[in-house]
Amino acid sequence: MNKVKGLKTKDLLGLRHISEDDLNLILDTAVSMKEVMHRPIRKVPVLLGKNIVTLFYEPSTRTRTSFDVAAKNLSANTTNIALAQSSVQKGETLIDTAKNLEVMGYDGVIMRHNLSGAPHLLAQNIKGAVINAGDGSNEHPTQALLDIFTMKEKKGELKNKKVVIVGDIAHSRVARSNIWGLNKLGAKVVVVAPPTLIPKDAQKMGCEVSYKLEGVIEDADFINVLRLQKERQADGLFPSIEEYHKLYGITSERLKKCKPDILVLHPGPVNRGVELSSEVMDGPYQVILEQVTNGVAVRMAVLFLLLSGKKHRNQ
Ligand code: CP
Repeated sequence: MNKVKGLKTKDLLGLRHISEDDLNLILDTAVSMKEVMHRPIRKVPVLLGKNIVTLFYEPSTRTRTSFDVAAKNLSANTTNIALAQSSVQKGETLIDTAKNLEVMGYDGVIMRHNLSGAPHLLAQNIKGAVINAGDGSNEHPTQALLDIFTMKEKKGELKNKKVVIVGDIAHSRVARSNIWGLNKLGAKVVVVAPPTLIPKDAQKMGCEVSYKLEGVIEDADFINVLRLQKERQADGLFPSIEEYHKLYGITSERLKKCKPDILVLHPGPVNRGVELSSEVMDGPYQVILEQVTNGVAVRMAVLFLLLSGKKHRNQ
């Protein structure tokens, strides 16, 4: 693996303020990382001796595991803090927890938290790199990076491509990071949801807003479908799951009205039969598991660009 210049920032906290150069550097580096993943031995020594910890205050299957695989593919040591067995249960603060990890020799913290802005606070208080693996309803930058990587891999440059994001936009950190990232690459973004699931400032983020799929998906290049996040929603934001599926679910019938090369993405986990019909989820238009594979490549790129060549922060 050739040495490339790193990111301009110490941390990866979101795509809102990332430079276009850094965004493209991550995406380009992920192409090389994907090549590493296809070698007979999927390991390069670029982060040998680096220590990385995953600190997740919310559940995760894909993000935490793929960061762990990504770090191991780069020869880093990884530790997962299981919060249920940690001293967080005794009332230790986030910053105190992270400072203790840092003096043990951790170079990077990958963090998911239910509060928007928690990784930003951590980044200001430790010398090591902080990677946001999802903060409240704010951002989930590596998810958007892997979505964008998958779109580019499938259809080339995204300038003037149309991406429809459908679902719970109001509570979705994935939607926000996608909108910021796609805008920087010149894609046209339309968000679709019931009015109760669209944030008031949606248009200010640089996307169009629609309350129905019809009239929007027919000329789309990609439909990125979001999970209904019951854990973040107040009750009564839409009448029923059945009605939501009828109005906003992506079904084979709806896809017949789209371009023949339409592609359907979903960050997972999927509520089968709600956001997507099972037929679509298992059908030819979706790229959901390819997204998961690409997540490892993108996270390898992020770890490499943030940590490679840097001395331990406490030195
Ligand atoms: N897409 C995503 O963030 O999945 P996990 O919650 O399983 O990490």
